[in-house]
Amino acid sequence: MKFLNLSLVYLSLVLPISSSWAQNQNNTSLKHAQACRNVPGSPGYPTPAAWDAFNATISGRLIKVVPSAVYCANLPGGSCTDAQWTSALFRSMIPGAADQVNWEQGYDLTPPALCLRNSTNTCKQGDVPLYSVEAETVADVQAAVKFASAHNLRLVLKSSGHDTLGRSSARQALLIRTTNFQNLTFTDAFYIGGQNQGPAVTVGSGARGQDLYRAGKANGRAVLGGSAGTVCIAGGYIQGAGHSALSPLFGLAADNVLGALHLCSAVRFGSDYLLSVFQEFNIIVASGELLKVNSVSHSDLFFALRGGGSGSWGVLISATFKNYPTFNSTSNVITFRATNNTAAGALATAHAHHIFDLDSSHASHSWIMLQNATDNTTSFEMNANIPHTTIEESKTLLAAFMNASLVLPGVSLVSEEYGFGDINDALFQADDAAGTNSVLGSRLIPAETYRQSPEKVGQVYKELLDIGTQQIFGIVVAGGKVAENADIESAVHPAWRKAKTHFVIHNFWDDSAPLSEINAIRKKFTTLQRPVVEQLSGPNPGSYSNEADIFEPQFQTTFYGPNYAKLSAIKARYDPEDLFIVARGVGSERWDEWALCRA
Ligand SMILES: Cc1cc2nc3c(=O)[nH]c(=O)nc-3n(C[C@H](O)[C@H](O)[C@H](O)COP(=O)(O)OP(=O)(O)OC[C@H]3O[C@@H](n4cnc5c(N)ncnc54)[C@H](O)[C@@H]3O)c2cc1C
Ligand SMILES: *[C@@H]1O[C@H](CO)[C@@H](O)[C@H](O)[C@H]1NC(C)=O
Ligand SMILES: *[C@@H]1O[C@H](CO)[C@@H](O)[C@H](O)[C@H]1NC(C)=O
Ligand SMILES: *[C@@H]1O[C@H](CO)[C@@H](O)[C@H](O)[C@H]1NC(C)=O
Ligand SMILES: *[C@@H]1O[C@H](CO)[C@@H](O)[C@H](O)[C@H]1NC(C)=O
Ligand SMILES: *[C@@H]1O[C@H](CO)[C@@H](O)[C@H](O)[C@H]1NC(C)=O
Ligand SMILES: *[C@@H]1O[C@H](CO)[C@@H](O)[C@H](O)[C@H]1NC(C)=O
Ligand SMILES: *[C@@H]1O[C@H](CO)[C@@H](O)[C@H](O)[C@H]1NC(C)=O
Ligand SMILES: *[C@@H]1O[C@H](CO)[C@@H](O)[C@H](O)[C@H]1NC(C)=O
Ligand SMILES: *[C@@H]1O[C@H](CO)[C@@H](O)[C@H](O)[C@H]1NC(C)=O
Ligand SMILES: *[C@@H]1O[C@H](CO)[C@@H](O)[C@H](O)[C@H]1NC(C)=O
Repeated sequence: MKFLNLSLVYLSLVLPISSSWAQNQNNTSLKHAQACRNVPGSPGYPTPAAWDAFNATISGRLIKVVPSAVYCANLPGGSCTDAQWTSALFRSMIPGAADQVNWEQGYDLTPPALCLRNSTNTCKQGDVPLYSVEAETVADVQAAVKFASAHNLRLVLKSSGHDTLGRSSARQALLIRTTNFQNLTFTDAFYIGGQNQGPAVTVGSGARGQDLYRAGKANGRAVLGGSAGTVCIAGGYIQGAGHSALSPLFGLAADNVLGALHLCSAVRFGSDYLLSVFQEFNIIVASGELLKVNSVSHSDLFFALRGGGSGSWGVLISATFKNYPTFNSTSNVITFRATNNTAAGALATAHAHHIFDLDSSHASHSWIMLQNATDNTTSFEMNANIPHTTIEESKTLLAAFMNASLVLPGVSLVSEEYGFGDINDALFQADDAAGTNSVLGSRLIPAETYRQSPEKVGQVYKELLDIGTQQIFGIVVAGGKVAENADIESAVHPAWRKAKTHFVIHNFWDDSAPLSEINAIRKKFTTLQRPVVEQLSGPNPGSYSNEADIFEPQFQTTFYGPNYAKLSAIKARYDPEDLFIVARGVGSERWDEWALCRA
């Protein structure tokens, strides 16, 4: 499911316009008035000859897209190995693949249109796009955007296929893949209006986190990226805000796009910025124009591209980020086991009590609670990257929490591993796990909650485990520099600036589960878990739009806070025909679940 059907009532009032009326209009007003996108069978859908002609203009880079299971079945051996199927790197080569394979499925169609790995003989296209432009040049993207606009097609964008809300897959759509935009360029001194802004790196929208860390190490630089190796930093990641293990030290990735102005420095350096010739984002907007977007050129779009949501603005070609001298960090993985939910809750309380212990080092850390459904024990695996410390210093910083945990009844230490080295090595991941069915739900939890009621945190963990929550992920990627950056003008949800943690629930299922159970799991966050987690997030909660629940009922405020109206106005300026619509993105309320018909 891509969109909640909030407006069945309105939908029934939208009547198809008569074709004679439509023929009397020019193309712009035609598209505005048309209730639906053109799909195969619609009178306005491109003919085979039109597709061929389009293909010729993009050097033959148009391909027909199939679900990942069909792609595998068509391989010489007739299948993908388990290692290939579950590799995000492998899946990123398959145009039709989503990393979470559930986003390829048309669960909400009647009847559901599925394509499962082990039953490809009954495969349906589901929510997988029909065609893809495997873009290699800016001109390819421009041609594709213009073609989609002229023919009123559903358009969708993909760089890695990692999107946890399935926003890079869309039924009946034309896909533009920017996976080939792998440029990574480091500069020692970046000048804006004659002023040296320091070292920068320009990142193509197909470059992955792992590429950035590899290049960062080679260049002696530390760069902001995510925990996953295969997420594209200048694709979906940056538009959502982009959290990193380096965020408590350097801020969100969105805070590090060059030219991001603090309100005070805007006054100080105002005239220099006015002379700016530098390009922070290169993006192709709905008109097909390539825009250079920064704090003085299209500053409204510059605001939106930093936190205003992935996929709603245009096709990113590249983004330029600040970077820092590299440094050493420890990398510490500690695993506990709790015998039952009471013990797991007590461990979560101890952790909450000590969550500020690493703040003096501006350290990030994450933890996963995984419930074993066979014996009902819970594992708690914590991973802490502590910058500028030795292993001995890190052990000292972690000791209070370790001591407090190990005295708890039912809690035991399973393993501890400590490492030391270049931060780029600590963050580098060779691949990410993929190929399963999973959905997320999340909240940003204010630092105040941890200060005032750590017991409440443990109680919420226990309640979540008691209702059968299998996996709870938490990460300290706020506080420190993220809080200090509160005055940066961008679309980043203000809840980030007061948060201590990003709290994420994963729900997953096997292909063999009955559809009724799958649908219950898909809605589990919104129906069962959300009210529990909201005991921690307080009123007007925020959620990170890149790792979140597709069914969020108040997505405008939950994902975009007070910025939604401003973002809507910016969208109207750059995308008046809603060419770039994604689930729960700006403007999505005007469209149905598949963004195929106006709601
Ligand atoms: C295992 C895993 C770990 C993660 N870790 C982190 C983390 O540490 N920090 C963090 O902040 N996030 C993290 N994320 C979330 C991640 O930021 C989002 O999934 C993000 O949307 C991925 O962007 P992508 O471009 O790689 O993915 P895609 O699925 O290709 O695209 C995601 C979104 O971006 C849009 N998009 C893609 N390419 C372009 C383009 N060229 N121009 C414009 N829009 C485009 C798409 O329309 C879609 O809405 C993680 C996700 C996973 C699955
Ligand atoms: C197209 O229609 C719009 C809205 O009716 C109108 O403002 C515009 O002038 C028309 N353009 C052309 C080229 O006819
Ligand atoms: C586009 O052209 C290329 C090269 O001629 C061809 O291989 C490909 O099949 C064409 N794509 C489609 C969808 O027809
Ligand atoms: C599908 O088949 C593969 C290979 O035979 C097997 O390893 C895998 O477990 C099966 N997956 C499902 C979901 O049944
Ligand atoms: C208007 O749309 C039709 C059908 O999609 C197309 O053939 C024609 O070229 C378009 N005209 C202009 C001026 O864009
Ligand atoms: C990548 O870099 C090369 C060399 O600087 C440049 O010619 C090309 O246009 C860049 N590609 C993109 C997609 O930015
Ligand atoms: C990291 O530690 C290694 C080994 O002690 C040392 O050689 C190196 O200079 C350190 N790097 C930095 C950037 O401090
Ligand atoms: C879950 O518990 C059972 C029984 O103790 C054990 O055999 C199994 O390995 C555990 N599973 C995981 C994933 O730890
Ligand atoms: C695990 O919990 C479930 C549900 O609460 C219960 O039915 C089951 O008996 C428990 N199993 C064990 C081994 O305690
Ligand atoms: C943790 O426990 C050890 C061993 O009992 C003790 O030496 C140390 O002082 C304790 N540290 C803290 C921070 O509580
Ligand atoms: C949970 O485990 C602890 C420690 O083993 C034990 O004292 C407690 O009685 C258990 N609670 C429940 C509800 O089983």
